Amino acid sequence: MNLPFAEAWKIKMVEPIRKSTRQERENWLKTANYNVFQLNAQEVYIDLLTDSGTGAMSDRQWGAMMVGDESYAGATSFHFMRETIEKITGFKYVVPTHQGRAAENVLFSVLVKAGDYVPGNSHFDTTKGHIESRKAFAIDCTVDDAKDTQKEAPFKGNVDIAKLEKVLAEHNDKIPFVIVTITNNTAGGQPVSMQNLREVRQIADKYNKPVVFDSARFAENAYFIKMREDGYQNKTIKAICREIFSYADCMTMSAKKDAIVNMGGFIATNKQDWYDRAKVVGIVYEGYLTYGGMNGRDMNALAVGLDENTEFDNLETRIKQVEYLAKKLDEYGIPYQRPAGGHAIFVDAPKVLTKVPKEEFPAQTLTVELYLEAGIRGCEIGYLLADRDPVTRENRFGGLDLLRLAIPRRVYTDNHIDVVAAALKNVFDRRETITRGVKIVWEAELMRHFTVKLERL
Ligand code: F0G
Repeated sequence: MNLPFAEAWKIKMVEPIRKSTRQERENWLKTANYNVFQLNAQEVYIDLLTDSGTGAMSDRQWGAMMVGDESYAGATSFHFMRETIEKITGFKYVVPTHQGRAAENVLFSVLVKAGDYVPGNSHFDTTKGHIESRKAFAIDCTVDDAKDTQKEAPFKGNVDIAKLEKVLAEHNDKIPFVIVTITNNTAGGQPVSMQNLREVRQIADKYNKPVVFDSARFAENAYFIKMREDGYQNKTIKAICREIFSYADCMTMSAKKDAIVNMGGFIATNKQDWYDRAKVVGIVYEGYLTYGGMNGRDMNALAVGLDENTEFDNLETRIKQVEYLAKKLDEYGIPYQRPAGGHAIFVDAPKVLTKVPKEEFPAQTLTVELYLEAGIRGCEIGYLLADRDPVTRENRFGGLDLLRLAIPRRVYTDNHIDVVAAALKNVFDRRETITRGVKIVWEAELMRHFTVKLERL
């Protein structure tokens, strides 16, 4: 008999979680204005809000925390982190930041100005926020496949090269760089192929433009390349990572994802002029060059996390758990962005709640229903998150409207996943009775989903 698959780790420390009653959840969610970001964590049973900063560190990471060097300048922890980053990515200049959006802020302060165009594949909301707040435009060039949740394709996170070339040709002198997000979070944690990264590089070279990778989940992207792309089966994840970054001039990193730390980020590049300019902004916003918003111990944990999570076994354990949830949903007939992505399952809400009009935010409605059903917190990645068009101020209903169930790394067991799937099935079974959604009563101008106040209709 073949032995079944099992996790590549065992558990050394646990944190109790608690169930609640439907009545408690009704009250809590009302107080939270039907926005799950406003819930208190103890009001949540299984928390799939995000995979960001919510992972469980390993014993090696905790060990490294104990020997962090907290010197203000020249800390050995910084050098250890910088060397690890260089080993994995090939980039020698590193600007540490407190998280991913801080890396975006520092880099874009240097590179993006009003009226610029920044083409890419489904910019993440903070990336879009840092572009639009500078009165520049984030142009989405994702492949059309990404919009068809039911289409099975191996690399639905890809950049559409024809769309990219059109933008490059039309706005050439207004383009500071091309940005590629790996994996493509907004399109469903979908990977970008090596072939596509290579083609982006070639087309960017043709127009003499630099390329930046938003690399929050680059290791998961490397796993998919190994599993799905010809020629990579026998390569190590680390070798694949080196090739990935050979096609970029610079990376921004939210270490809260694939470095499995609770807080941290960085910019890394080989462009000395970018580094020289970014480091000045880094000092102003983040802190001195050898800590930038992180403790010495955090940088140690980050370095160890990056090293561990660019190993196949760790990634396989993680991605197989996401696939496990997908298989359950297949069994129940619940539609999601296919195939399963790297960090989350994205349920196609308008295909579930067919009676809820888009103006009433189907994915947010499904998020609310799942929380009320079992205390499971997902996250809307849809029409609320898309914000309004900066020019017309209309809601942007052009993209997908998804309920994201993000799986924290090394945190929940498959038993928890079974509970999630069953709760979602219960909501799915009564979908025909859900005919009304939610209405906005207050919203911020940018990144409204964090603070939006809603009413149930
Ligand atoms: N880029 C991507 C692709 C992201 O998914 C995120 C964060 C960031 C940048 C920003 O990084 O949070 O460290 O400032 N994504 C989280 C999420 C918040 O839930 O998907 P950060």
